[in-house]
Amino acid sequence: MFEDLEKVKEKCLACKKCALSQSRTNVVFSGGIKNSKLMLIGEAPGFWEDQKAEPFVGRAGQLLDKIFASVGLSRQKDVYICNTIKCRPPENRNPLPEEKLACKEYLDEQIRILKPRIIMVCGNIALNSMLPSERGISRARGKWFDGPYGSKMMPIFHPSYLLRNDSREKGSPKWLMWQDIQEIKREYDKL
Ligand code: URA
Ligand code: SF4
Repeated sequence: MFEDLEKVKEKCLACKKCALSQSRTNVVFSGGIKNSKLMLIGEAPGFWEDQKAEPFVGRAGQLLDKIFASVGLSRQKDVYICNTIKCRPPENRNPLPEEKLACKEYLDEQIRILKPRIIMVCGNIALNSMLPSERGISRARGKWFDGPYGSKMMPIFHPSYLLRNDSREKGSPKWLMWQDIQEIKREYDKL
């Protein structure tokens, strides 16, 4: 199965299906480990991800690593990480509908090949792609949804949002993230 993923990656690295191919430095296909338990779907590469061809390596990524570590998870041994969009939008603007549509085949293939049991849907862009009828991450986060191939999906806040909201008080975004990652870990431990 992992050979199939390599083929998809090869195709993606050469992709010119949308205009983001003109401005990217690197395609950011995936990070973490290939596994069939846990996947995180983020938004799109930012500056550092585009430079390093690796998802979540900037400030948001460092916070994400801390969030994983708080429940004993890590990208080196537990999680496959990918984004909704594989190339960086200029100035980190939101991806356009036609870019999301063009790039969807790669995410679909990553899910089809790995068939993760748990999918973390991180932030509004990923939510919109995976659960288009949901009306925003603040309402959807923390709930389990039925996902593709019998998976369970949980929307969670994007770490960039947490970086802008520093409070740890009960009910704050950081506090809610802490509840969500603990719930995800409980489910992960059942697998
Ligand atoms: N934000 C994302 O959603 N993905 C990355 O890879 C980096 C920052
Ligand atoms: Fe291809 Fe996706 Fe990059 Fe657009 S964003 S060029 S569809 S890989």
